[in-house]
Amino acid sequence: MLSGAAALAAVPAFSTFQAHASSGHDQHGGGSGNTASGNTGTATSAAATSHAGHAGFAGGSVLPGRAGIDPTAILRDFDRGKTSLLPDGRTLRVWDIVAVDKDFEIAPGITFPGWTYNGRIPGPTLWAREGDALRINFTNAGAHPHTMHFHGIHTAGMDGTPGIGAGSIAPGQSFTYEFDATPFGTHLYHCHQSPLAPHIAKGLYGGFIIEPREGRPPADDEMVMVMNGYNTDGGDDNEFYSVNGLPFHFMDFPVQVKQHALVRIHLINVLEYDPINSFHIHGNFFHYYPTGTMLTPSEYTDTISQVQGQRGIVELRFPFPGKYMFHAHKTEFAELGWMGFFEVGAA
Ligand code: CU
Ligand code: CA
Ligand code: CU
Repeated sequence: MLSGAAALAAVPAFSTFQAHASSGHDQHGGGSGNTASGNTGTATSAAATSHAGHAGFAGGSVLPGRAGIDPTAILRDFDRGKTSLLPDGRTLRVWDIVAVDKDFEIAPGITFPGWTYNGRIPGPTLWAREGDALRINFTNAGAHPHTMHFHGIHTAGMDGTPGIGAGSIAPGQSFTYEFDATPFGTHLYHCHQSPLAPHIAKGLYGGFIIEPREGRPPADDEMVMVMNGYNTDGGDDNEFYSVNGLPFHFMDFPVQVKQHALVRIHLINVLEYDPINSFHIHGNFFHYYPTGTMLTPSEYTDTISQVQGQRGIVELRFPFPGKYMFHAHKTEFAELGWMGFFEVGAA
């Protein structure tokens, strides 16, 4: 387990970045872009060979079917829950969330023993409209006590904090969180059990999107990107970084977008152990809406930073076709997995 990370760390930093950004990926970028990240089963056996271009710098992504994580599928997977109408005319949304321990192959030969919501890292992206009534039936099927702590406005008893209300949910126990969807914005939920850092870093987090009551101006393409890290060898530092759970995935399977289309990205930083994460795009600028709680952007830029738990909406259009990198502007994170491409198809 240590050798993979050690080998990565031993690669000279600058050449790693360059290799991945240029030659390493040109070999298969064209072929892999449109097809799929949904690879499972037999396709996974090709991981070692099809990613030979990475061998020189010991990076590369594990195919989703083998890793157990598909960041491309997670991009546009918004879980709106089971809906029904309440007597007062409001919408009730109900989700069943189960905490389960699950292993993932997050990098070639590196198994990460995750703690998850519904078997995923990140957990499901829960979507609601402002004012909806929300009910989250949480069951802890893991081996440790956990909670679901939502960012949002709610009563103390529904906060998922140990010692308050139901507090810690022991293995085998269940609890139903109930509150209203407010305020609108791009939020998150995560476990709040102590010790907090490992409970989050093991994988217990997900996006929580509250759409304004009147909606936002329509986007042509809407997606969620959860920035995370993996501490695979103990201590209090990460050996890998990613967007939507799998290091280097979007290098091998670029995010497919259309020229001129309005792309809205809900960007959420759940990274533990490192205080600041960032998002940078090549060849373009974006409007940024901190926390998504306002309808007017605060910034027009190509780089933003987020501390732990910080999030916001990135909106942009790509004026030209082609492949454009996006990555953490902290080079170390990028070299350890937090980099990818948008592939812009001609309109
Ligand atoms: Cu926990
Ligand atoms: Ca570590
Ligand atoms: Cu939080």
